Amino acid sequence: MSKNIVGSHAEYKKLESNILQISQEAKTQKKKFPDVIDATVGMLHHENLDVFKFQVVEDALKTLSDAEIYNYAPVRGKKSFTEGVLNWVFNENVDMIRNDFKYSIIPTTGGSGAISNSFYNFNDFGQKILLPGYYWSPYKNFALEANVDLETYPMYNENNRFNVEGFREKAFALAKEQGRLCTLINDPSNNPTGLCMEKEDWEEVIKILNEIDNTGVPVILIHDIAYVDYQLKDVDDSRINFSTYKDLNEEILTVVIFSGSKSFSMYGFRVGAQIGISKSQEVIDNFTRVGDYSVRGRFSSVSQPGMNLIDTIFNNERFVKLFKEELAIANDILKKRATLFKETAKKYDLKHLPYFGGFFISLKTENKNIFEDLKKEHVFVIPMQGIIRVAISSLPLKDIPELVRILKKFV
Ligand SMILES: Cc1ncc(COP(=O)(O)O)c(C=O)c1O
Repeated sequence: MSKNIVGSHAEYKKLESNILQISQEAKTQKKKFPDVIDATVGMLHHENLDVFKFQVVEDALKTLSDAEIYNYAPVRGKKSFTEGVLNWVFNENVDMIRNDFKYSIIPTTGGSGAISNSFYNFNDFGQKILLPGYYWSPYKNFALEANVDLETYPMYNENNRFNVEGFREKAFALAKEQGRLCTLINDPSNNPTGLCMEKEDWEEVIKILNEIDNTGVPVILIHDIAYVDYQLKDVDDSRINFSTYKDLNEEILTVVIFSGSKSFSMYGFRVGAQIGISKSQEVIDNFTRVGDYSVRGRFSSVSQPGMNLIDTIFNNERFVKLFKEELAIANDILKKRATLFKETAKKYDLKHLPYFGGFFISLKTENKNIFEDLKKEHVFVIPMQGIIRVAISSLPLKDIPELVRILKKFV
């Protein structure tokens, strides 16, 4: 074809080794070959491979009126939804956020919409966002779509913990080079690695951000907490690291990424939020101004039934109690799978990145052909930056010993 149908800025676009495509391929193969092991899907599944539905979501759905399901939603969402999200996310730290900070919450189409809007609005075109070397690959798509790119630092130090020094070095260099620092940290229960940063790591990160802010450049921290509810801990014990925010300098903008997909298994509902936090009212006014505009300009508004479901649950004590009970069951499923994976890996002397929580365990590999090698053995995992990602969220216990045995052969 001789005509340029695609705009020149979009010529580069082609989804490669896309997670959703690989998952689809695994599902198709599973229909043909029942022995297929599908460890691709970042959705929580029961042992019988049914998706882990929250009964509380089903119950809340029955309480919604026609208007709460069918009408357009307000761009900014309802206050009861946004305040409910704030309370849930920050838990015991919520008073500190309300007292010490200005904040604004913008509903988005999933956490993805929140990240994509943040990448777009808080960088100049051509600039780079800083994140660790292992990252959820769609960040690259969000970045390129927003005319920005990614810069990375090695994620681990010599003790296999978060590499504060690596972060410091690259953060200062990037801030100097481009007169801005926008960094994304996906914590806790990192996708793809399963890392949970320590409180001391967060204290150091905040100190570094403050030092860079003191040099006069804008500093934006995007904190992706998609898996905050899957740290294999009780909800009340899992929010401690947010307390480190209190030391943030006045003009720093923190954007916390909330995902309704993960917290409620409401993957298809597409509900999330950007929670903008700063000690400066001016920063928050700017956050709200550009965020509102982008919601309207990019996807108009967010799923009305999705937001109302979450709103209904957060604002009903009985539902919150039920939700917490079901989250404990979900965490228990992950814990059992992670334990079996770790024990079996130990038996086979198969090394993996340290797992502390979340949907994934990852293993380093030098094998460039690993995806194809494993596919031949009817095993599907997601290849990423020098690692393979095993989704224990969708991996029944019975498949784990065989999976580990095959991984050992090819990693
Ligand atoms: C690290 C991370 N952040 C954010 C998201 C966003 O999910 P959603 O757009 O479904 O809310 C995901 C989904 O897989 C994720 O893994």
